[in-house]
Amino acid sequence: MLQTWNSERRLTAIGRAALSVPARQALADRQLIPERTILDYGCGRGDDVRALERLDCRITGWDPYYRSETKLEQADVVLLTYVLNVIENPAERRHTLMQAWQLANTVLIVSARLTWEKSKVRGQEFGDGLITSRQTFQHLFGASELRDYVEEVTGTRCVSVSPGVVYAFKDDSARLSYLAQRIVPDAEWLASEDTTSAIAAVIDYVERRGRQPRVEEMPHPVAELLAHMKPNELRRLVRDSADPEKISEGAKRTTLNTLVFLVVELFQGRGPFSSLPFSVQLDVRSFFSSYKEACQRSDRLLFKLRDDTYIRGAMNASAVGKLTPTALYVHRRAVDHMPTVLRLYEHCASIAAGRPQEWTIVKLKHQGRATSWLDYPDFDRDPHPRILSSYHVDLQTLATSHTSYANSMNRPLLHRKHEFLAQDDPDVPRYRRLTESELRAGLYEHPHLIGTENGWEAELIRCGRELRGHRLVRRAAG
Ligand SMILES: C[S@@+](CC[C@H](N)C(=O)[O-])C[C@H]1O[C@@H](n2cnc3c(N)ncnc32)[C@H](O)[C@@H]1O
Repeated sequence: MLQTWNSERRLTAIGRAALSVPARQALADRQLIPERTILDYGCGRGDDVRALERLDCRITGWDPYYRSETKLEQADVVLLTYVLNVIENPAERRHTLMQAWQLANTVLIVSARLTWEKSKVRGQEFGDGLITSRQTFQHLFGASELRDYVEEVTGTRCVSVSPGVVYAFKDDSARLSYLAQRIVPDAEWLASEDTTSAIAAVIDYVERRGRQPRVEEMPHPVAELLAHMKPNELRRLVRDSADPEKISEGAKRTTLNTLVFLVVELFQGRGPFSSLPFSVQLDVRSFFSSYKEACQRSDRLLFKLRDDTYIRGAMNASAVGKLTPTALYVHRRAVDHMPTVLRLYEHCASIAAGRPQEWTIVKLKHQGRATSWLDYPDFDRDPHPRILSSYHVDLQTLATSHTSYANSMNRPLLHRKHEFLAQDDPDVPRYRRLTESELRAGLYEHPHLIGTENGWEAELIRCGRELRGHRLVRRAAG
C-alpha cells in the first residue's frame, strides 16, 4: 500500500553535464548572488552544487541518499529541484516542501517536472502518479497546480517564474523587488574607475531611466567615487551633459513600466506606497503627481486590457509584429516596442503561468486572452525558421499546454521574418529583400500550402528556386 511501499528514489538522481534549468533561471534572476548562502535540498549527485561552487556561490547540498552527512542549516536560498515529483507519499511530499520552506531565509525555489512530459514517463498508475519499471515514482504537476500547491503549503504568495519553476519569498518586499526587476529592469551601470567615468555612468543612468538616481541605487564603486561631490553639483553636471531627448524617452519608458508593475502588483493585492521597492517609489515620485494618481492610471490600463476593441486597436496600431485574423506575433527583440497595454498582456500571462526560458516569438490572441511563447531556435540563421516548441496559457482558465515539434516530420515554418521585428532592427533589410524576391518568384501564390516544411519545399520546386542562406536563387538543374 501507499504508506508501506518505498520507491527507489535514489535512482531518480541523474548525473548532470550542465547546470539544471531552474538553477540557470535563478542565476539569471540574480537570486544566487555571492552575498547569499544557498542550500540545494535533495541535491542528488550534487552536480548543481559543484557547478554553482565554480561560479563562486556559497552553496551546500543535502540529500537523504547521497549527502546525508551534510549538516542541515538555514540558508538564504533553498533549491528544491525535481524532488517533489519523486515522493510517492503525498503527506511526506508536503512535509518535504514544508521542511525546505522552513530552511529558507529569503527565497525557496521549487521546481518540478510537468504533465507535458507525460509521454517521456512510462509506468503503471500508482496513487497520484506512476511507478516506472525501475520502481521509481513520478507525480507530474500541472504548471498552475505547482504554484497553487506551493502557495497552499507555504501559506505565501508565489511567483511562477518559468514553467515548472516557482519562487516563494519569505518576505513580501523581496517578492515585489523581484517583480519590479522583471518589469522595470534596473538600468545596467557602466563600469567606473575614476570620477569622470562615474559621472558618465550617472549620465547614462539618467538618460535611460529618465531621472536622477539616489546614492542608495548606485553600485558601491560609483557611490564611493562620487562621495566627495555635493548632490547639487552632481545634479547640475548631469543636467548640463545629458541628452534631454534621451532623458524624456527614458522618463516615458519608466512611466509606462511603472504602470505595468502597478497592474501586476494589483493582481496580487496592492499594498501601501511604503511597500513598493525603493526604486519604484522614486519612479512614482518623479513621474506621477501621487501614488494615488499612478494607481488610478494603472487601473485604467487594466480596464483596457479587458476591452477587445481596445486590444484590437492597439494591435492594429502596434509598430511591431505581424497581425493575423486571430493574433499578433512579435519577436522577443521587439516586445518592448509594443504598445504598453500589449506589454502588460504578455506580462500578465508570464506572471500567471511562467515565461519559458527559450522563446523567440510571442503570440497574443485578440479574442479571448491567451498567450503562447513559440521557440524558433534558428530564427536568425534559417530564412524560414521551423518551430521547436510552443507553450500556451489561456488567461481566462489559466490552463497551460506545451507542444513539442522535435519529432515532427513536417513542422510549421515562418515566412516574412521582418514582420516580427522592429523596423530599425539591423536584420530587417536582409529579411525584407528575401521576402520581395520570394514574392516575385511566385512563392506566395498558394498561402495555404507554404505554412509547413513539405508544402514549402514543394512550392520551391514548382517555382524552380532554392535558398542559399537568405538569398533565393534559381534551382540547379537535375
Ligand atoms: C530527481 S532527483 C533530483 C536531484 C537533484 N535535485 C537534481 O535536480 O539533479 C530527486 C532527489 O530527491 C531526493 N529526495 C527523495 N526524497 C527526499 C526527501 N524527502 N527530502 C529531500 N530529498 C529527497 C532523492 O534522493 C533524489 O536525489
